[in-house]
Amino acid sequence: MKLLVSYSSLTGNTQKLATAIYNELSLNPLVTEIDLISVKESINIDDYDCIFHGFWVSRETADPLSKKFLENINNKKIALFATLGAYADSPHAKRSMDKAQLLLDESNCLLPTFICRGKIDPKLTERRRKKYPIGHPKALTPEREANHISSRKHPNEEDLTNGRNWASMVLNEVEDTVS
Ligand SMILES: Cc1cc2nc3c(=O)[nH]c(=O)nc-3n(C[C@H](O)[C@H](O)[C@H](O)COP(=O)(O)O)c2cc1C
Repeated sequence: MKLLVSYSSLTGNTQKLATAIYNELSLNPLVTEIDLISVKESINIDDYDCIFHGFWVSRETADPLSKKFLENINNKKIALFATLGAYADSPHAKRSMDKAQLLLDESNCLLPTFICRGKIDPKLTERRRKKYPIGHPKALTPEREANHISSRKHPNEEDLTNGRNWASMVLNEVEDTVS
């Protein structure tokens, strides 16, 4: 099976997760060929049987480059993974993944997904503090600031291990449907 692990990453979190997933899948005997490619490069998706695509969450959906990439995929098996600043088990995380899946054409076969936290860029925290005064609905309250700070430990080893295990599970599921 020929696999593509594609990703979009602004500050490195999703790239880290994509690399862990790529390394894990590379070890699997079901995989004959595998490539790890950023969506900034040109990708010929016709070459692949199955795509694992990683995006970073932007405004509760996939980031802009991933959007473009995902909207142009047809007739593929595709497994989405992502990083976001918020908690991975939050309703916001679920909505973000659901909205990203809706970008995909109905001709694709959607495989299980994975999402984990990624560090929110401290510059973004600072920008938000300056932009929205206290009392504004989007102001950086102490609770929000604590969330931003706690995100800085992610993706951690546990996140990467969960991502690797998820990828192996998905690949076995694909193999079961093919054989
Ligand atoms: C413009 C922008 C919008 C973002 N929107 C969200 C969002 O809606 N929800 C969220 O949880 N995190 C959001 N984030 C945080 C990123 O999703 C998170 O830090 C992610 O791990 C970044 O991945 P990367 O390092 O691969 O770029 C946003 C970040 C940026 C820069």
